[in-house]
Amino acid sequence: MTQKLRPGDMIGVLGSGQLGRMIAMAAARLGLRTHIYCPDPGPAFDVCAQFTVAAYDDEEALAAFADSVGVVSYEFENVPAKTAAFLAARRPVRPGARALATSQDRFAEKTFLNGIGVATAPFAAVDSIDDLRAAVEQLGRPSILKTRRMGYDGKGQILIRETQDLGEAFQAVGCAPSILEGFVPFAREVSVIGARGLDGSFAAYDVCENEHEDHILAHTMVPARVSEAAALAATDMAGHIAAELDYVGVITVEMFLVEDGMEQRIVVNEIAPRVHNSGHWTLDGAVTSQFEQHVRAICGWPLGSPRRHGRIEMRNLIGAQGNDWERLLSQPGLCLHLYGKHEARPRRKMGHWTKVTPEG
Ligand SMILES: Nc1ncnc2c1ncn2[C@@H]1O[C@H](COP(=O)(O)OP(=O)(O)O)[C@@H](O)[C@H]1O
Ligand SMILES: [Mg+2]
Repeated sequence: MTQKLRPGDMIGVLGSGQLGRMIAMAAARLGLRTHIYCPDPGPAFDVCAQFTVAAYDDEEALAAFADSVGVVSYEFENVPAKTAAFLAARRPVRPGARALATSQDRFAEKTFLNGIGVATAPFAAVDSIDDLRAAVEQLGRPSILKTRRMGYDGKGQILIRETQDLGEAFQAVGCAPSILEGFVPFAREVSVIGARGLDGSFAAYDVCENEHEDHILAHTMVPARVSEAAALAATDMAGHIAAELDYVGVITVEMFLVEDGMEQRIVVNEIAPRVHNSGHWTLDGAVTSQFEQHVRAICGWPLGSPRRHGRIEMRNLIGAQGNDWERLLSQPGLCLHLYGKHEARPRRKMGHWTKVTPEG
């Protein structure tokens, strides 16, 4: 199996959303072509050399896709394990099966993290209402019930407050296999976006500070307001996690910053085995964007510099905010990115803008 690709080669990406689109655009800049595979057409189809619309269990289509590319990657972590295994038998899948299995299941993820010495919220598996009662007894209120799989943007989770009826809470997550997490009284949410190369090299961007509105990322600021020691600890943690997963590609680690008096502590929330919304600023604000970095890593190429060009502000355009594009275009110093989605549905990510302010 080829380990390294060459300019002119084709990369394969599962998923046709804006992340796949920006990966394909970064690949094109480096002389690579992209084949997007997805059951539903999406914004990535507009910018790729080839696309396939087929189900993730269509083995004929998957085989043809694998034959056409030198490496397979993905823009979302819920790639079915069977699909990944089928493709991995034909082409390198980067990041690999271990990263996927770990990040797809919140219980496996937190068990893995604690096992390598990384702190998370306290948690317990919940497979029944009796488990939930016992877990709430153990972890107290408030706590958060989350489905083990398929959650995103706050979907599949419910806050267990003092007055919350537990039967209703378990119903609210569809009685699906879940975990209960102790509530982390965080001061801020941050993320570390790093990349691990085929040769084991690791490069991380400065720590990002993230604000959510209605469980969707609204705003990212870099550098984050964290102490130097906490930033170093956070970055080391991401490198450690990537090494333990034998990871190749861009990895994102979402974290909580907890303040105990003067001291700042990092608690890991979740791992995304992919480029991440909190790293979109790197397109305009860093020497190498997260998308290019991901392409470099999965192709077995040297990683680029993650150095920042200045202080960063990134804002997402959600739903109707995307209609504001003309006004945003006339703002000097704003770098506008639109994803080419035709309908501005509520909660839909339509684009983002970045402002880079050079540091003195
Ligand atoms: N244990 C926790 N304690 C406090 N807040 C939490 C906890 N878990 C999640 N949250 C809040 O909910 C948000 C979404 O949770 P997360 O586990 O990241 O799910 P998703 O997969 O939907 O992003 C987090 O960004 C954070 O604001
Ligand atoms: Mg999250």
